[in-house]
Amino acid sequence: MTSYDKTMEQIYGLKLGEIGDEIPSRHFGFYPPGEPEIPLPDAQKRYIREVTKHIKKGSYVLDIGCAFGETSVWLARNLDCRVLGIDLVESQIKHAREFAKKFDLEDRLEYRALNACDMDFPEETFDYVISLGVLVHVPDKDAVFANAFKALKKGGGIAFSDPILGEKSSWLTKQIAATVTFNVSFMQKVSEYEALMKKHGFSNIETLDVTETAFVKTWDLSKAEKYKTVLEPFKYENYFWARPSILNLARMFARPSLMKRNWGWYFFWAEKE
Ligand SMILES: C[S@@+](CC[C@H](N)C(=O)[O-])C[C@H]1O[C@@H](n2cnc3c(N)ncnc32)[C@H](O)[C@@H]1O
Repeated sequence: MTSYDKTMEQIYGLKLGEIGDEIPSRHFGFYPPGEPEIPLPDAQKRYIREVTKHIKKGSYVLDIGCAFGETSVWLARNLDCRVLGIDLVESQIKHAREFAKKFDLEDRLEYRALNACDMDFPEETFDYVISLGVLVHVPDKDAVFANAFKALKKGGGIAFSDPILGEKSSWLTKQIAATVTFNVSFMQKVSEYEALMKKHGFSNIETLDVTETAFVKTWDLSKAEKYKTVLEPFKYENYFWARPSILNLARMFARPSLMKRNWGWYFFWAEKE
């Protein structure tokens, strides 16, 4: 096991049974401007729906960094999709398989423990590739986009959400972000993601800045007593930043930097024509 694998296991690893019978959410809520505020659990589902809005019913989807299967179960239940979920951390894959069994979705959901950098799927296998909050952790994004493009059918596309560095951000912001996330975060600028997708053949790229409509809004809401369980899927002993005291400090110091877009959060979409 490499030190990268160990750190990932330390951050995201779970003991079986640890997350209970219902799938918790690791997503922000999504609050489109001008729409009435909905409860956070509904807004978290809205977030998934928004990232995956291009996906058509009955598709075959690859979910990179699927964790315990929240997004794949949503796709199977709401869009009748078949999904292959991959994740580096084996214990999450075991949980995902348990959920598939529990919700009677084993015929549609398959999970494999696999590092995204080692993806080698055959040509034209999937209708769509998705990845929610994962690529930031992946050091060799070239390998991921190259195989994603190859493994997509023509007319399909890739949809992902990720934290990003501001266009004018310095090396120092990148270094601070890497340090507070145990040196397993490799943040990129939106322009760098766009260049990477074009390099590997993707076209019709769409980007959406959800820094305020997802990240900041959820941070602000998670202060409320009724929403404090929203951080439960993050284990406090691993996610030092999810401890209430640290979170308050982060809200105080990191929020202004988010508002200035030294960093932020984006949705991405690109097609294989
Ligand atoms: C923030 S979680 C997001 C989980 C999930 N996509 C979701 O939306 O709930 C990041 C996930 O990426 C996985 N991950 C990180 N690096 C990876 C890699 N190189 N290959 C595969 N999975 C990876 C982690 O194990 C973790 O489950």
